[in-house]
Amino acid sequence: MKYTTEELTQKINELKEKLSVTVVSHFYQRDEVFEIGDITGDSLELATRTRDDDSDFVLFCGVAFMGQSVKVLSPHKRVVMPKLACCAMAKMIDGLYYDDSVKYLEEYGIKKENILPITYINSNADVKAKVGEMGGMVCTSSNAKHIITTALDEGKKILFVPDRCLGQNIANQMGLKSMVIGEEGDPNDADIICYDGFCSVHQLFTIEDIEFYRKKFPGILIAVHPECDPKICDASDFVGSTSQLIKYITELPKEQKVAVGTEFNMVNRLRPKNTYILSSTKPECPTMNETTLEDVYLTLKAIDDGEPINEIEIDEKTQKWAKIALERMLSL
Ligand code: 13P
Ligand code: SF4
Repeated sequence: MKYTTEELTQKINELKEKLSVTVVSHFYQRDEVFEIGDITGDSLELATRTRDDDSDFVLFCGVAFMGQSVKVLSPHKRVVMPKLACCAMAKMIDGLYYDDSVKYLEEYGIKKENILPITYINSNADVKAKVGEMGGMVCTSSNAKHIITTALDEGKKILFVPDRCLGQNIANQMGLKSMVIGEEGDPNDADIICYDGFCSVHQLFTIEDIEFYRKKFPGILIAVHPECDPKICDASDFVGSTSQLIKYITELPKEQKVAVGTEFNMVNRLRPKNTYILSSTKPECPTMNETTLEDVYLTLKAIDDGEPINEIEIDEKTQKWAKIALERMLSL
């Protein structure tokens, strides 16, 4: 089967008319997949906005933890994904690695009841469930600072998984002491102990890139996502989540140059003039890019044929505790 983009878009729109399906696309998706989304946004917006949607199916164009978050928050919905693509960072931790991290803290004399775990939304449902069962919660890059501030009120050690960069950046912003599991040091001396996961896409931005743009275009602003390394965030003019970056960049005066350190597809469609990618390497997220228009068409066709494919299923216990962890965040 070889259809043009226009033919595929038309076939998709016909099936969307016919079926009770809401197509949801993350900002990092390819342009043509982003454009067919009925709901578009960042991971948190997508999970919360689909809760109020009354279609039978959610067709989620993004990575697996995002589709899972929709299913966890709205278990009655049938969630299908054109590609079951897994975020590389989410893949760095599973339930067993999570348990090992708790054991690591226990070996330093920190009791389990004195640990408050927080997981970045970029984690699979099994990790969210473990966190929920231990009294912890989820955060996103938009609300991490607020969630950590609230968590600190409980007077416990914070175990932050899986992104070491986000954990360290928030700790730096708040004047807190952080450490990364496996690095030299005693976790008793830190407020936030971070797991050692990271996003390979956001590690592409370097100090040399920042120096290059500042030298080339005096007055240029540097805006980055908090999944970038702390030394990159410290050297930047603005650090913000996906939706915070969009707001910041689109509100800049037209003539203001800005170099942006986050995923390529999103930055590229944001502001055609005076916006630069803060890297000589194209920072595309390989797993976000896996979903094609043809995959979307085939997934819709499978629903139409009565044999849905790539449906998200989550067992009852994982569902229960992951929901608790997500809802604790939403209640804040
Ligand atoms: P958002 O939570 O901002 O959508 O970002 C998810 C992500 O994968 C960032 O790299
Ligand atoms: Fe995961 Fe990084 Fe891709 Fe975001 S950009 S989905 S954190 S691999």
